[in-house]
Amino acid sequence: MTQRLTSLWRNLRHATAGASDSSRVAIGVLDDRIAWIAPDGDLPAFERAPEFVQYAGAGARVTPGLVECHTHLVFGGNRADEFGRRLAGASYEEIARAGGGIVSTVRATRAASEDELFASAAGRLHCLFAEGVSAVEIKSGYGLDVQTEAKMLRVARRLGRELPVTVYTTFLGAHALPPEYRGRAEEYIDLVCTDMLPMLAEQGLVDAVDAFCENIAFSVAQCERVFETAARLGLPVKLHAEQLSNIGGTRLATRYGALSTDHLEHANEADVIAMRQAGTTAVLLPAAYYCLRETKLPPVEMFRRHGVPMAISTDCNPGTAPALSPLLTMNMACTLFGFTIDEALQAYTRNAAQALGKSELHGTLDAGRYADFALWDVDSISELVYWLGASPCSALIRHGVVVHGAVEAGATGK
Ligand code: NIG
Ligand code: FE
Repeated sequence: MTQRLTSLWRNLRHATAGASDSSRVAIGVLDDRIAWIAPDGDLPAFERAPEFVQYAGAGARVTPGLVECHTHLVFGGNRADEFGRRLAGASYEEIARAGGGIVSTVRATRAASEDELFASAAGRLHCLFAEGVSAVEIKSGYGLDVQTEAKMLRVARRLGRELPVTVYTTFLGAHALPPEYRGRAEEYIDLVCTDMLPMLAEQGLVDAVDAFCENIAFSVAQCERVFETAARLGLPVKLHAEQLSNIGGTRLATRYGALSTDHLEHANEADVIAMRQAGTTAVLLPAAYYCLRETKLPPVEMFRRHGVPMAISTDCNPGTAPALSPLLTMNMACTLFGFTIDEALQAYTRNAAQALGKSELHGTLDAGRYADFALWDVDSISELVYWLGASPCSALIRHGVVVHGAVEAGATGK
């Protein structure tokens, strides 16, 4: 049966790890999906839809659209002042305990209007598009009351509707203790479990549930209450775990079949084995490691040895990672964490999609996936990771449509 196509992308150089460097491919697209990917010299027969367009591709490198699987992209204000304090010697924990840190962003986020939050997050999202991102996870967690958590999640959904990017939302109500609940953490968790999460889930605002399991945030038992609620509502979970210390968050998360556990600098071998058994992806966040001037490295060699997939992401947030560059994040994963270039690319595509539980839609250039891909003006895939501060993304295609940069249409290609 001949396949119908709405567009055909010729003469691309496949940059996905493992592919031969010189292979030229063509991608056939029907509506928002990849119909097939084939050697450029051996195209399957196809039928042109009335709106059919052919793009020459001009020998550009192609990767799947990058997937940002861990961000706090929606927030009010910023914390450049705190950056100065940290440079002067204050630690992240000291600033948090003194009422700064996350709680200062909570004040700014509560005070911001929905339009202000949308505008500032849209600006950050444009930086991500410029580096090839076509899907992004966005967490709440700077509201810590029902109205503001709802406001953040509505803004995230609106970003997905009004901008050409797929947005997955994550409820992170258990991110920090709001100041009005000081000394009453259990009561705050009651609020999260009985009001916030059920109400926001009911409004269709929640795709997944996260928590911050740490001495300066919530205990394993408190995070478990949040996970029990998520399980009751049929929502998948993930966890900020073992970032500053090892208190057992990873083992809790794996008991609930977590999609991912994130940060993991302090994870040990038992954690890694539990992740392998639960099918949990390790999300590593080198920009947060770098900004906090951490010295404890995540156990990358153990993840490899036990076959736990590793994803990376900017962790874009106003405190520990004011990071807007996926390519720089890949460089950091290689330079700081010892990733290979192939691992960094897989971590931003296939494994990041897996961390979101969305492998069937994103992360690879296979038939049936969204036609989301990035074209890069580089001679080798190593260059994506090698340059610091370059913008080699010549075009971003999302759901089969050019949404950033430009591609010449109509030519037949070489
Ligand atoms: O992923 N670890 C907790 N949450 C964020 C930091 C949030 C903040 O400092 O505003 C993170 O690093
Ligand atoms: Fe985070």
